[in-house]
Amino acid sequence: MLDQGAPPKDRTQAAPPSPGFGARLMRRKPVERLVAEGGQGEGGALRRSLGLWQLTMISIGATLGTGIFVVLGEAVPKAGPAVTLSFVIAGLTALFSALSYAELAGTIPVAGSSYSYAYATMGELIAWVCGWCLVLEYGVSVAAVAVGWGEYLNELLDGTIGVTIPDALSAPPGDGGVFNLPALIVVLLAMAFLLGGARESARANTVMVAVKIAALVLFCAIGVQGFRSGNYAHFMPLGMAGVSAAGATLFFSYIGFDAASTAGEEAKNAQRDLPRAIMLSLVIVTALYVLVAAVAVGAQPWRQFGDSEAALAQIMRDVTGQSFWATLLAFCAVVAIASVVLTVLYGQTRILFAMSRDGLVPKVFSRVHPRTGTPRANTLIVSLFCGVLAAAIPLGQLADATSIGTLFAFALVNVAVVVLRRTRPEMPRTFRVPLSPVLPALGLAFCVWMMGSLSAVTWVVFGVWMAVGLVVYFVYGQRRSRLATPAPLEK
Ligand code: ALA
Repeated sequence: MLDQGAPPKDRTQAAPPSPGFGARLMRRKPVERLVAEGGQGEGGALRRSLGLWQLTMISIGATLGTGIFVVLGEAVPKAGPAVTLSFVIAGLTALFSALSYAELAGTIPVAGSSYSYAYATMGELIAWVCGWCLVLEYGVSVAAVAVGWGEYLNELLDGTIGVTIPDALSAPPGDGGVFNLPALIVVLLAMAFLLGGARESARANTVMVAVKIAALVLFCAIGVQGFRSGNYAHFMPLGMAGVSAAGATLFFSYIGFDAASTAGEEAKNAQRDLPRAIMLSLVIVTALYVLVAAVAVGAQPWRQFGDSEAALAQIMRDVTGQSFWATLLAFCAVVAIASVVLTVLYGQTRILFAMSRDGLVPKVFSRVHPRTGTPRANTLIVSLFCGVLAAAIPLGQLADATSIGTLFAFALVNVAVVVLRRTRPEMPRTFRVPLSPVLPALGLAFCVWMMGSLSAVTWVVFGVWMAVGLVVYFVYGQRRSRLATPAPLEK
């Protein structure tokens, strides 16, 4: 039987009367449904194998990398020694949003992270916008990070065997080369781990995180020996505007603390462990950043930053007068940045997994491989896409573009936490943001401030990105949404 008024050509015979256009954009996915579908993909389920330790390492793995090893060198000329303050400001932005993430990750522990939180609270269109921002945060940042990896690889090759990869093979067209081979290689390596399984990838990541923390501690121990208080004489040479501009740039270095929230469907005890992993990773990372930045600007006059792409290795060389330490640091940076590629790539595949399960992107992204319990086809497609992007496109503006997308997603999470408190006050929460709605409002304000500090070019890139996203949504997602055709998951 057709529903009253349904045209005979309607193929979904049992479809209810179609809701209006506005209602379709605002449709929300009930929290219970989001949680009940958790883990389920096309043809199988994700495997729950990650504990608190691995989840924390995933978040640290995704966070600590290019930002501190490479972007720091670009930020110091904007703020001078006050770059330490810029790290604190960027860290506060991350902290307020992390609290909101922690509450929502404990309440809605699914793979889609902020995309799913927005779907439950603000409706499908906002959720899509959030998911599209997450592609900037995760997918595009993998490419940016992979490029940073190539720079430290060259530093390492130079220090060990005295050769570097020629520009033609280590830079994309437009940046003086033909193809960035190292960037492609690191993405393919990460892909190989991810295809092996989440648990195996988490193990490899844990080793890499240990190496990068050790490297930064070593940097502090050596760098502090070159400390000159005169380097701090003009603490804020470019004023507060410089500090906030550097903060916005450095926000890139905090991206990734939310990565644990994309592992909600592979965590053994997601509701308990996700909030803890998010907060723990942020505290560890912030402490390391402020310490490393304070030592770096104490050991080298701020005007000299920006001369070398591998700023920390350069400082090690200058302080010790030996290239051995710089080479060792370059080795650790190569390992460190590889773990960012691995975990951020992981996050991107899981977000697309959730979006695909909701019908907003093609089904292939939620197909689960029966043996490894991972979304295999998804991993292959995302890795190849990110690898080619990293290898063939000049990524000068990309770090900032990634930051603006992330800030937008974080802003939405701060709103979502307040909305869910109002709409579902009775839901059990394993973690609650203190002083809500004050702290989420501060989180939102910090995100807006940071976004306002980014350049006009970055805003244009972001505008174009969002416009493309909206076209994709109206042409594809809005019509295929499973909330429009509420069928059970099937092959
Ligand atoms: N936060 C990550 C990094 O700094 C993206 O590499």
